[in-house]
Amino acid sequence: TNKNYKTLVVSDVDEGVQLVRLNRPEALNALTTGLLAELSKVMDAAEASDDIRVVVLTGSAKAFAAGADINEMAERDLVGMLNDPRQQYWQRITRFPKPIIAAVNGYCLGGGCELAMHADILIAGSDAQFGQPEINLGIMPGAGGTQRLLKAVGKSLTMQMVLTGQPIQARQAKEAGLISEITQPELTVSRALAIGKVIASKGSLAVRLAKEAILKGMDTDLATGLRFERYAFTVLAGTQDREEGIAAFKEKRRPHFIGR
Ligand code: HXC
Repeated sequence: TNKNYKTLVVSDVDEGVQLVRLNRPEALNALTTGLLAELSKVMDAAEASDDIRVVVLTGSAKAFAAGADINEMAERDLVGMLNDPRQQYWQRITRFPKPIIAAVNGYCLGGGCELAMHADILIAGSDAQFGQPEINLGIMPGAGGTQRLLKAVGKSLTMQMVLTGQPIQARQAKEAGLISEITQPELTVSRALAIGKVIASKGSLAVRLAKEAILKGMDTDLATGLRFERYAFTVLAGTQDREEGIAAFKEKRRPHFIGR
């Protein structure tokens, strides 16, 4: 475990997977600028490390994160918001090229829900609840909540959640497509790590390009997305991992990918 962070617990890499736990128990992991800055640093290091293939992001049993830190937010006026350094930290997560899995338990609200939606795969314990309660504070989501929630669950439920501020439970989040699996709360992290290890065993170039192609499809028209997919697919034809994957299939053995 890396002790260099105040608001995060960063575990040693295990089979290609790095576990990052938000750790501000006194405030249900409310996201301060400092926490987001530390998360950005972790992302920088994780991107640069060949050993890290997948990042699992989690909180505590009680809360993934209960939102942006309201005390900190209260001190920022309009100009303070315009100059908000957090914007670059959110973008850092958006630009992260390796898969991120969010393992959510308890409250996942406001900026916390927005952070979880930055992940590529979301799974949650049966006690998790997701919401965008900003409207209760006279504001609205500001880190992608209106857009990413819309893409994930569609217009009606997004409108309902954002305009009423009322959260949904894990089961509804699963039905709506916000998360891909529900686990027992105490098994969420181990399940996320297991999914991460499966992904980490694949060819990292294929994983990276597949993630990029899927995300491309989130914000472009079908023709553009298909063109990107075609190029990415073609590029992989030049990799040793593709040769290895096909050879291993023919030889009826497990492939050994090297990320080249
Ligand atoms: C700062 C927070 C916090 C937050 C909880 N705490 N959420 N501090 N910012 N977002 C603190 C509480 O003040 C309290 O501190 C401690 O955490 C425990 O919380 P309690 O309220 O006592 O717990 P509980 O009664 O179990 O209620 C849990 C809760 C409630 C329902 C989640 O805390 C709550 O409604 N929190 C606010 C949720 C919210 O509105 N989030 C959206 C924020 S706006 P003390 O010191 O009293 O023990 C946002 C904008 C995003 O996210 C924009 C991004 C750019």
